[in-house]
Amino acid sequence: MRLLQSLVATAILSFLHAANAATVSSTPAQTFLGVGGSGAWWPNDLYRFPENVRQNVSDLLFTDAGLGLSSYRWNIGSGGVNVSNPTRAIGTVYVSPGVYDWSADAQGTYFLREASKRGVPSLTAFANSAPAQLTSGKASCNGGFVSGRQAFSSPVPTKAKTMLGTGDAYGTFLADVVAHYRGEGINISYISPMNEPDSSFGPSPCNQEGMQVMPNQRAEVVRGLYNALSARGLQNTVGILADESSSLGNARNEYASWLPQVINQVAALVHHTYDFPTDDSYASFVSNVKSQYPGKVTWMSEVCCSLGNPDGSGRGWSGGYDPTIKNALLWATMVFQSFNIANEPHYDFWTLLSNGLGCSPLNNPSCATTANSNGWNDGVIFYDSAYATNKNYQLYVTKHFWTYKHFGNFVKPGSQRRAITGSDANKSTLAVSTATNYYIIAMNPNTGDTSITLTFPDSVCATKAFRTSASEDFASVPIAVRSSSNWVMALKATSLTTFVFDRRAC
Ligand SMILES: *[C@@H]1O[C@H](CO)[C@@H](O)[C@H](O)[C@H]1NC(C)=O
Ligand SMILES: *[C@@H]1O[C@H](CO)[C@@H](O)[C@H](O)[C@H]1NC(C)=O
Ligand SMILES: *[C@@H]1O[C@H](CO)[C@@H](O)[C@H](O)[C@H]1NC(C)=O
Ligand SMILES: *[C@@H]1O[C@H](CO)[C@@H](O)[C@H](O)[C@H]1NC(C)=O
Repeated sequence: MRLLQSLVATAILSFLHAANAATVSSTPAQTFLGVGGSGAWWPNDLYRFPENVRQNVSDLLFTDAGLGLSSYRWNIGSGGVNVSNPTRAIGTVYVSPGVYDWSADAQGTYFLREASKRGVPSLTAFANSAPAQLTSGKASCNGGFVSGRQAFSSPVPTKAKTMLGTGDAYGTFLADVVAHYRGEGINISYISPMNEPDSSFGPSPCNQEGMQVMPNQRAEVVRGLYNALSARGLQNTVGILADESSSLGNARNEYASWLPQVINQVAALVHHTYDFPTDDSYASFVSNVKSQYPGKVTWMSEVCCSLGNPDGSGRGWSGGYDPTIKNALLWATMVFQSFNIANEPHYDFWTLLSNGLGCSPLNNPSCATTANSNGWNDGVIFYDSAYATNKNYQLYVTKHFWTYKHFGNFVKPGSQRRAITGSDANKSTLAVSTATNYYIIAMNPNTGDTSITLTFPDSVCATKAFRTSASEDFASVPIAVRSSSNWVMALKATSLTTFVFDRRAC
């Protein structure tokens, strides 16, 4: 009876939609490089959790049973000098020029190692600040990068160059760190020397590490790092990412001050989108880069912290914790924007775990599952900020985790996007192809059920489908249904579904 009902329903759907099927392109758009997030600043806390929980976190992030992330960003610490939030004060291995204490960041390197062990293919090392000793204020924030010319009269004495700030000294430090971990078999393949160089994150005491790097200093940072990588034979193996501007607006305005000088030394132009750009301004940023810096790819390396609606409206930088499907779908619209509108190959969310619940889960049973205005949407798994005293080592998995899993599991490095044309469903539908499969990741932001109908460029056979909604977490659901030469996919109200197809006739 049920089966008959669903067959009839499907027949009606097919009839309604066959006429306006959208088309999956026969030619690939961009080739994907990674989907991931950052190891900041939760490793400082999670390192103090029991080993079985640390292993569980590593599995939840880095295996396909969990998110299946293909990118992980390890935060190279500055030492936490003058940073008052202990979770955000990151140990630095820097002792003095050429002298390192490799045990100084056991917390961060634990999760870096776990990512590497589980085969995460894209590992990035990024710094919010140079080691405190190398900055203008000898602190991990509220200061700036020290350029060679500011510190010394010209010409700079060769020995002094490697002793204080300067691109050479900082580059030497970063290249030594990366070479050390690569020597251990942890294949860091990207390095980002300045995360959000637009701010010093002062005044002191500060809430996080940060080092201002003026636009006219950024070429020196890149050049110093490139030269130090070259000296170790790593310049073609470890790509430099820059400049992690906090907004597309800053990135675009400041490129001219530094980028032309070092364009050949930068592997990719990575940006944050804390200006939450419209589709038009994001597309215009990308086309501007394409025309001014041909051949340079751009991608998203950090964003978090917005409230808003499942259709993407209302987004903007904001506090507030919302673990529900409403906020999860809002973030899915951001991923669709970067992949479909901006054609970018790589997407990193900001911190993967967070203590920003904004409530106390032991005192309030609905804390972790209910929206509140005190917390932050800056993670996909949350933990109790009072764990050190109350020993609550529970992990709180949000709907954002389950929606991000669709991208982590099905947008793998080497797979390719296929444009979808002929329907406005393409804004919230991502088509991915591999040699053997198509994956259709489709969202329905509205409160009524609907469906999409697609035509594929070659023979396909529907095999599986997974849905995340208010009541489902990546649940197995009915597969796509053939309707003559099209395939019909049911989209439940306020949900994200992945439909898996084999590239062969059924
Ligand atoms: C770091 O903190 C000390 C002690 O409060 C203060 O004297 C110093 O100015 C701070 N450094 C910076 C760069 O703000
Ligand atoms: C890192 O690269 C080396 C050299 O290419 C390789 O032998 C090693 O297996 C890689 N390690 C991992 C964890 O992939
Ligand atoms: C890992 O954590 C998740 C979320 O709290 C939980 O559902 C799961 O049972 C844990 N798995 C293990 C092996 O501890
Ligand atoms: C969606 O399809 C329309 C109509 O074919 C096309 O004009 C538009 O560029 C597509 N949008 C995206 C994001 O692919």
